[in-house]
Amino acid sequence: MRSLLWLAVVGLAVAEDGLSAWLRYARVPSASRHLGKLPSAVVTLNATKGYPVHTAGKELVDGIGGLFGKKLTVGKSKGTTATVGTVSAYVDKNPSAAKGLPDLVEDGFYLKVSKGNVLILGQNERGALYGAFHYLSVIAQGNVSDFTLTSNPDAPVRWVNQWDNMQDGGTHGSVERGYGGDSIFFWDGYIREDLTRAGQYARLLASIGINAVVANNVNANASILTPENMDGLARIADVFRPYGVQLGLSLNFAAPQLLGGLDTFDPLDNSVVNWWQGITDNLYKRIPDMAGYLVKANSEGQPGPMTYNRTLADGANLFARTLQPHGGIILFRAFVYDHRTLNQTLDWKADRANAAADYFDGLDDKFEDNVVIQIKYGPIDFQVREPVSPLFGHLRKTGATIELQITQEYLGQQAHVVYLAPMWKELLDFDLRVDSKPSTLKDIVAGKRFGQKLTGYAGVVNVGTNTTWLGSHLAMSNLYAYGKLAWDPEQTSTGILKEWTTLTFGHDKLVHDVITKISMESWPAYEDYSGNLGIQTLTDILLGHYGPNPGSQDGNPWGQWTRADDDTIGMDRTVRNGTGFAGQYSPEIAAMYENIETTPDNLLLWFHHVPYTQKLKSGKTVIQHFYDAHYKGSATAQTFVTLWEKLKGRIDRERYEHVLFRLIYQAGHSLVWRDSVNQFYFNKSGIPDELGRVGNHKYRIEAEKMELKGYKSYRVSPFEAASGFHCVVTETNSTVGEAKTTLKVPSGKYDLAVNYYDMALGNSTWELFVDRKLVGKWKGDLEYELGRAPSPYIDGQTAARKTFKGVRVKKGSELKIVGRPDGLEPAPIDYISVLPEGIVD
Ligand code: GCU
Repeated sequence: MRSLLWLAVVGLAVAEDGLSAWLRYARVPSASRHLGKLPSAVVTLNATKGYPVHTAGKELVDGIGGLFGKKLTVGKSKGTTATVGTVSAYVDKNPSAAKGLPDLVEDGFYLKVSKGNVLILGQNERGALYGAFHYLSVIAQGNVSDFTLTSNPDAPVRWVNQWDNMQDGGTHGSVERGYGGDSIFFWDGYIREDLTRAGQYARLLASIGINAVVANNVNANASILTPENMDGLARIADVFRPYGVQLGLSLNFAAPQLLGGLDTFDPLDNSVVNWWQGITDNLYKRIPDMAGYLVKANSEGQPGPMTYNRTLADGANLFARTLQPHGGIILFRAFVYDHRTLNQTLDWKADRANAAADYFDGLDDKFEDNVVIQIKYGPIDFQVREPVSPLFGHLRKTGATIELQITQEYLGQQAHVVYLAPMWKELLDFDLRVDSKPSTLKDIVAGKRFGQKLTGYAGVVNVGTNTTWLGSHLAMSNLYAYGKLAWDPEQTSTGILKEWTTLTFGHDKLVHDVITKISMESWPAYEDYSGNLGIQTLTDILLGHYGPNPGSQDGNPWGQWTRADDDTIGMDRTVRNGTGFAGQYSPEIAAMYENIETTPDNLLLWFHHVPYTQKLKSGKTVIQHFYDAHYKGSATAQTFVTLWEKLKGRIDRERYEHVLFRLIYQAGHSLVWRDSVNQFYFNKSGIPDELGRVGNHKYRIEAEKMELKGYKSYRVSPFEAASGFHCVVTETNSTVGEAKTTLKVPSGKYDLAVNYYDMALGNSTWELFVDRKLVGKWKGDLEYELGRAPSPYIDGQTAARKTFKGVRVKKGSELKIVGRPDGLEPAPIDYISVLPEGIVD
């Protein structure tokens, strides 16, 4: 009892696993003081069980119960009342009230809070639920004052895409580019029996205004359309429906052949058209409110209309027409390019960045009205920095959705914290100056600039069965921000973060300060220590898209080229000498990017091919900027750990530890990034770091230079993924390895950092001894602890660091690491750093 009281006093929640995310309804501070300003009863107008107004009533009861400990009665009461329903149901009962109500667009809501009475009216049922969630969010943030609000979404399409495979071991596992566990929808080729998580997901999404989820991967498996799986999909739609979330489906363009047994999938062939009509009718028979389809065609090996020399519009319209009788829409992706035809050696000017606009130009007026073109924010692929895709400025008749990526495919895979709202804001605020008129991206995707009706947002989320949803508690701010910005892109990154933090972690000021600082510094830091100056990703694009491998960008057909040689670097995308990409923008923007002087530094290497010695606007050379930025970004990542440690005891232990573990990992991996990238370009350019840091690590002892027993030296590939290009591995799978050295540092306390490789081939163990005394022991099991792409190689993906702080050593102490291999993982060690206090290297 005493400990329970104590918990209540200090406001500490019991352990939390993240499942309720920002919908925890945790008790607000001084809750009892506010009871009088809250409703005592809930009245739902036109509520049907299983539909959003009914859900809204339930959320109000649960929410006010949890937040304030006030038990609401359901139905009429004499006291204060929360009334929730659609505008039409309200006006039916109170015809005279109609005049005073504002205009609402689809999904919009009106909210009036007055002395504990709350009126929540939606333009439709979904809007009513959104209004209820909004009210609950406001009071959860401690605000019980009176207010009136009319809120309409900026755009009608606010979808989530999941890249879930039907089967684990499909393209990239259970969820392609998912880092939060297996699919919550599918298992073993079928729809899961237990869809509890799918329902909980819909609840979270509804609370941030998301109105549809495409449940299966864009690299779609045709088997999703078997009758049995259609029945399963109907069950998903059933658990979504109470939250106003509609189901969408990704289609495989070749399904008529793969599944239907036809000998063609030509979109203009009658048998194909009929086959798809049959499929669509069958789906709508089971799911009358299905949202529609998402199609990836003629991209990365996927089939599409161009297989039959038909246009992309022919392909999109095929589905659009089958959907029209049912009111569905199709999001047709602009991510179209053929990696099989790209060849950097033969023609580096055949630029993947050009593909989307090249393919879609001339088709704008060829699409059916229920086609929306879904365009990734940048011309390549969710990179840490890209210019806005010029295609947004080309489509004036056909509406567009912007495709954002919440799952951090190229941005640290939730093992690195990267708060993305600032990046999305920058993109959405960008002015494409179409016809020399203000043409911000946010206005284009709201349909305000060109007047299309169907426009909006699609976010690739990829949650999984992990209780944290995305694999990391802090990553959930990205999902929250995505929904908030899709509803209203004027909201600020910090404002959204503040809301999310309160709802997720409570009201403690220090918690807010720390989360704000880490989050707001996280994208710039990640950009600094990964790929800067618009070089795009430097992740290993051939394996996993995670750790550093700058050499992997070039010399392959994936078109993410950097054209780095011994003297120069960067794509040339000018019209004058390059691929012509800059010319896809309106003249004002094209002129800005065409000219090196007016190209912002952070996109320099995206648009220009320059010597490493090219001077930036800052006065630094490109190469020195690389070196400095990598040092700066990784230094910032170290501070995330110490900042977070201030929160010990201020939030529940479970989430505290979970986040801490990741931040420590990130701090270590940011050093791997720093050293790999710097080493790589130092080797290429031969230009030394002005500050002498790159390649000089005076606190390090290379494992391959230690006295080895049972370990042998191993040359790492790519070379830059190892300090000194080598690591050590055990001589066989069963040999225990020992690496020993005598320390020459003055006696004192040091941080001992061991860089090792944790491959997904086993769980080696390592023990660190000083003068035969065990300092610490750890296991190579990051493949279970972090959801990031596993790798079987000794490389930048698997490189990791373990640090033991404040270890007392003497001059002449013996330092020894014992590595025990497991499975095919040979307990690899790169180096050990003996660091005086305050130094990290
Ligand atoms: C990226 C990603 C793929 C995905 C593709 C897409 O290339 O790596 O996994 O299928 O984008 O968006 O279609």
